[in-house]
Amino acid sequence: MGGPTLLKVLGGVAVGVAVLCNLPSNPFIPRPKPATLSYLAETELQTIGSTPRKFKASELWENTGAVIMVVRRPGCALCREEAVELARLRPELQLRNIPLYGVVHETLGVPEFAPYLKGDGIFLDSERRFYGPQERWMFISGFLRASVWSNIVRNWKKEIDGNLDGEGRLLGGVFVMGPGKQGILYEYREKEFGDQANITDIVNAIRKIAPAASNKS
Ligand SMILES: *[C@@H]1O[C@H](CO)[C@@H](O)[C@H](O)[C@H]1NC(C)=O
Repeated sequence: MGGPTLLKVLGGVAVGVAVLCNLPSNPFIPRPKPATLSYLAETELQTIGSTPRKFKASELWENTGAVIMVVRRPGCALCREEAVELARLRPELQLRNIPLYGVVHETLGVPEFAPYLKGDGIFLDSERRFYGPQERWMFISGFLRASVWSNIVRNWKKEIDGNLDGEGRLLGGVFVMGPGKQGILYEYREKEFGDQANITDIVNAIRKIAPAASNKS
């Protein structure tokens, strides 16, 4: 095969890949499988600090319900931007005594991330169950998506700092959990880098959280 022909073939492949990567749902990323309450509840989380404590994730929402951000990478500027959006819900959450938590799959950069979320705690999910039941990894296809670049530009305009440390390819999301057995009221899975949960939907889910008293047995 001559050089120019090879180039044409490679060019064709590149265009094909770029087109595939820009389909509304990226064919390289598995469709999210919805989580179940019992699956999430059984997750063993760990506090982050000098004396880590392990506990069942259900503790987070048992009595109060909770909003949980599943963080792709604490150092990532796009993730911090989403944290800032969730932090804006604070007045609504405080009014209802509902906590806001973060879940990470690695502890790197958590102290720097925490002030963006302004939440009630960030915990380590070392088995990455909150990222499952099927883990969704976004590789290079993410950077070929025009929508990802527009997310990055939006982020630049907001001047939210970030760094490049840590594993950022495992897609995260947001959960709104009701107390007791009320269940998952809202489940959002990142479709790509910088994709954000719909705040209106989150607020609507928060308003569905049953008051803790009516859930006590
Ligand atoms: C968010 O969700 C609401 C209600 O489901 C919808 O009306 C609105 O258009 C959505 N916003 C965005 C930015 O998608």
